[in-house]
Amino acid sequence: MYNFRKVNKKKSCIHGISFIFAQRTVNMTILILGSGGREHTFAWKINQSPLCTKLYVAPGNSGTAEIAENVNINVTDFEAVKTLVVNNNIDMVVVGPEDPLVQGVHDFFLNDNELKHVAVIGPEKAAAELEGSKEFAKGFMMRHNIPTAAYKSFDATNVEEGYSFLETLNPPYVLKADGLAAGKGVLILNDLGEAKTELKNMLVNAKFGEASSKVVIEEFLDGIELSCFVLTDGKHYKILPTAKDYKRIGEGDTGLNTGGMGAVSPVPFATPEFLNKIEERIVKPTIEGLQKDNLPYKGFIFIGLIKVGNDPKVIEYNVRMGDPETEVVLPRLKNDLVELFKAVANQTLDKVNIEIDKRAATTIMLVSGGYPESYEKGKEIKGIETIRESIPFHAGATLKDGKIVTSGGRVMAITSYGDTYKEAIKKSYQNIEQLHFDKMYYRKDIGFDL
Ligand code: AMP
Ligand code: GLY
Repeated sequence: MYNFRKVNKKKSCIHGISFIFAQRTVNMTILILGSGGREHTFAWKINQSPLCTKLYVAPGNSGTAEIAENVNINVTDFEAVKTLVVNNNIDMVVVGPEDPLVQGVHDFFLNDNELKHVAVIGPEKAAAELEGSKEFAKGFMMRHNIPTAAYKSFDATNVEEGYSFLETLNPPYVLKADGLAAGKGVLILNDLGEAKTELKNMLVNAKFGEASSKVVIEEFLDGIELSCFVLTDGKHYKILPTAKDYKRIGEGDTGLNTGGMGAVSPVPFATPEFLNKIEERIVKPTIEGLQKDNLPYKGFIFIGLIKVGNDPKVIEYNVRMGDPETEVVLPRLKNDLVELFKAVANQTLDKVNIEIDKRAATTIMLVSGGYPESYEKGKEIKGIETIRESIPFHAGATLKDGKIVTSGGRVMAITSYGDTYKEAIKKSYQNIEQLHFDKMYYRKDIGFDL
């Protein structure tokens, strides 16, 4: 059991014996690692909990600066994270992005005497390989009979076999760099010759560096995508609302892939029957698989799914929440998030009931013109204070000389609630009209395919 510091202790003297009545309230200091819209949403939600009395975000952004204390350290500089945690008696660390998890931040805490009492929300390194290595994730799914696309993996020693395997497949061809490649490591190609060239580029010419020293070639799955979010303590699990994000930069799902241009929750086509299939065929075997394979997991599992016919198949695992999916999933969660995280740390998630807001939530991402290719930064964002009906979650936005300016490609996610997703989307678009920065761009068709 993690021992969160108790406060409000009352001393009472009865017949000279002093008792300490520790009341239920706890005084927690929490650190969120990361700097995007996802982390602003975590901060927004944690800030609503009476259990959290001090919140740090490292490095954070202009949004987190308003509700927490930003500390400018790199999320993969574990020694700097340690200094921050020790000096400020931090009780819990919530890890936003995948990099620190794949690099073993949780293990770093467990192996350090000064840190091992700190609760870390995010899997240990061995389990984070579900995102860190596509080949590992595929092996996991095969071992535990979790439905996914057929595949084979190759390295520089068997490129020729890779060419032969491609020849057995029908187009389009799906090539995935094994390791983390900042969301760019998946290529979908229609032409066999091009697929062979790219396979060689990845394996022999290190197109994605070390990440493409192995490549998974997959059967193409045709269907509509959605994501399922699971919170697990390693033994028990809770399913959070589904969401669908819009990855392409252009309207009608065209153009380059981005981190995500908008999201909708719940996903209208995820009927109770379909959700039941996801739970029985995918979520349960995943949690059981983690235990069978001895993969310690306390955190979020983000399962990227595709609906093929009427059946869900797994496209990928991520070992964190999605961005911008978090911006629609957490606003619909009624529970105290810190209470949920404590249950994760103490492996008592089975004792918790998840309560979900019936309303839909949607978010629209405002991006810098040019993104996902090169774009300018430092543009002043005007009008945020006039937004009333939506929640502006800051992403690539920072404070400079008292002004909020752009600092990244994805700048701000505008989230709204509605009785239907259409109503929520309308509200986000109406509120966006009050916002402006030079070369601001956003997709005007989020939800178009639902
Ligand atoms: P991933 O990084 O694995 O999520 O892949 C990025 C995107 O590529 C996914 O969101 C899908 O749109 C697409 N994709 C990945 N694998 C497949 C597949 N086997 N069939 C069809 N599309 C895929
Ligand atoms: N929106 C997709 C992701 O977070 O990976």
